[in-house]
Amino acid sequence: MNNQFEPDEDIINLTEQREAEEDVGRNPTGNPTMGDVINRRFSRRGFLGGSLAVTAIATTVSPLALMIADEARAEGTSAFSFTEVEAGVDETHHVAEGYDADVLLRWGDKIFADSPEFDPTNQTPESQLRQFGYNNDYVGFIPLDGADDHGLLVVNHEYTNAELMFPNWATIVTETVEKDGVSKTVEKVKNGALTRDIVDIEMAAHGGTVIEIRKQDGKWAPVLDSSMNRRLHVGTEMMLTGPAAGHDRLKTNADPTGTKVLGTLNNCAGGVTPWGTWLMAEENFHGYFIGELPEGHREAESYKRYGAPAGWYNWGQHHDRFDVAKEPNEPNRFGWVVEVDPMDPNSVPKKRTALGRMKHEGAESVLNKDGRVVFYSGDDERFDYVYKFVTAATYNPDDRSANMDLLDDGTLYVARFNEDGTVDWMPLVHGEGPLTETNGFASQADVVIEARRAGDLLGATKMDRPEDVQPNPKTGKVYCMLTNNTRRKEGDENPANPRAGNAFGHIVEITETDGDFASTRSTWEILLKCGDPSVAEVGASFSSATSINGWFGMPDNCAIDTEGRLWVSTDGNSGKKTGRTDGLWAVDTEGDARATSKLFFRVPVGAEMCGPLFDPTGETVFLAVQHPGDEGLATYEQPATRWPDFRDDMPVRPAVVAVTKQGGGKIGIA
Ligand code: FEO
Ligand code: CA
Ligand code: CA
Repeated sequence: MNNQFEPDEDIINLTEQREAEEDVGRNPTGNPTMGDVINRRFSRRGFLGGSLAVTAIATTVSPLALMIADEARAEGTSAFSFTEVEAGVDETHHVAEGYDADVLLRWGDKIFADSPEFDPTNQTPESQLRQFGYNNDYVGFIPLDGADDHGLLVVNHEYTNAELMFPNWATIVTETVEKDGVSKTVEKVKNGALTRDIVDIEMAAHGGTVIEIRKQDGKWAPVLDSSMNRRLHVGTEMMLTGPAAGHDRLKTNADPTGTKVLGTLNNCAGGVTPWGTWLMAEENFHGYFIGELPEGHREAESYKRYGAPAGWYNWGQHHDRFDVAKEPNEPNRFGWVVEVDPMDPNSVPKKRTALGRMKHEGAESVLNKDGRVVFYSGDDERFDYVYKFVTAATYNPDDRSANMDLLDDGTLYVARFNEDGTVDWMPLVHGEGPLTETNGFASQADVVIEARRAGDLLGATKMDRPEDVQPNPKTGKVYCMLTNNTRRKEGDENPANPRAGNAFGHIVEITETDGDFASTRSTWEILLKCGDPSVAEVGASFSSATSINGWFGMPDNCAIDTEGRLWVSTDGNSGKKTGRTDGLWAVDTEGDARATSKLFFRVPVGAEMCGPLFDPTGETVFLAVQHPGDEGLATYEQPATRWPDFRDDMPVRPAVVAVTKQGGGKIGIA
């Protein structure tokens, strides 16, 4: 999810920054500047373009050393082979030459043979429940019958953009505002009324989709008459399991047992387990609640730590459970990792409370060498933490049913990144250290419900918005996407989050000791500080073999492909911030090409790049184009693009794209 509540002044506008730099004087020495060096490099490689010309910036780095490193790396051994896409912004998507990017599933597409056709002018909750949901985020693939060309695609639908979904609903208005005694005229999008129907369509468009897909003649297509297809949504009955299930803090009027909950919210990234279940991570759940807790309610402090209720969605007007004045415990029933068995369309999804309650970005896993399974999760908020969960029991490859409750028993850890390059994984276990009754933790239920406060007490490291955390089974390393944090002030830096005003984010690489993903002390280093490497003040650290198209800001999701290579997708690049849209970049992690990045795919204007997911053959990468057209003042009638249909009678639509190589073969290999 893009952070729609990030104030604009948080954004470093590179054009303005560069213009300001023109005014700060010139280095009087005759040394070449960093800008000169980069300038030469890009012009030699034919990348220098008028508007992207590099500003001369003074630097203390030895230019000679840079040049030598550059020459060496230009010859470097990148693990990727494809012709890079040119970075930029326009109305459509672009993929590397020699590849096809085919739209597979769009918002409103039929999920069942008898689903109604998408009619944007006549949307109903009932039709949406039988169609592909909005804002596709996580994409997983579960092979069926051991086949490579046939499987279940599982897709999260994170949130809705009502202003882009509903005709004649949002309008662009002009308002006069007073600021510092000066009145000025601003244009803004004014939303329409949240009728019961609008709210119920939004609730139906959230959640997830399971759909069988099949590859024929090299192209993927949905199998609409499959008995496995399913839509999950905010009304789907789910169970709470694990240490918090049945606890008083989870009980509501509708559910006095504290074990049954309707639906899932803001499913961002996720994961697929070794036993073929789908994990949907509940991220910004706080945004769906309104109202005020009753005076003196015990959850007041805890909800503050989670920012609930934030009132982004006014569903509480029509559904009491989203109003904390009426149903004070309901927010405790969200913020979990939900496990879905997609092999049984009637299965009841389970919220696995042992993995802790937070704004889970995702839940990617790896089968450890001792047979236990390790799950990684970022808690996506400024200054929040990185977690992992290690199952108590081992995975049984011969008996799927034996694994179905592995996620109810294990140890949740939170990370402390130490200055000496070690990382301590600290257990969140009731009764250990400060996690005792004295501090308000009467049981493990309290620990998992308030995982954030438990992490606070253990001294976890405050990170720059942890997003996807991805283990690499081939190397024993783990990649943490830290998307940005402009609110980190000078003096608040720590070794793992070294930049104040971190507008562009970075990637931390953890090396789990001896390839043991369950280890409690490992090492870490920074793989990459993101942003434009030609602006010295940004402090980006892409290798000098990275082209002007190859750098990015705001890493968000990532994937490890069948070759053990890292691919990073982004959220937040735009013409204004970086002169480029979001996209998918291939990032070298090994050898002298380390920290070299290349642009493989870019999204249409306004979109964020989610997914990415490689199929088991490495010949397809599934990409989720989320909130396309959501740039500037955008409404249903005036989106920033009408991707992917480009029809006047069709709204812009989020969609999943399948990328394959023309003529077949693995992605990114010559
Ligand atoms: Fe939903 Fe942290 O992105
Ligand atoms: Ca995300
Ligand atoms: Ca991922």
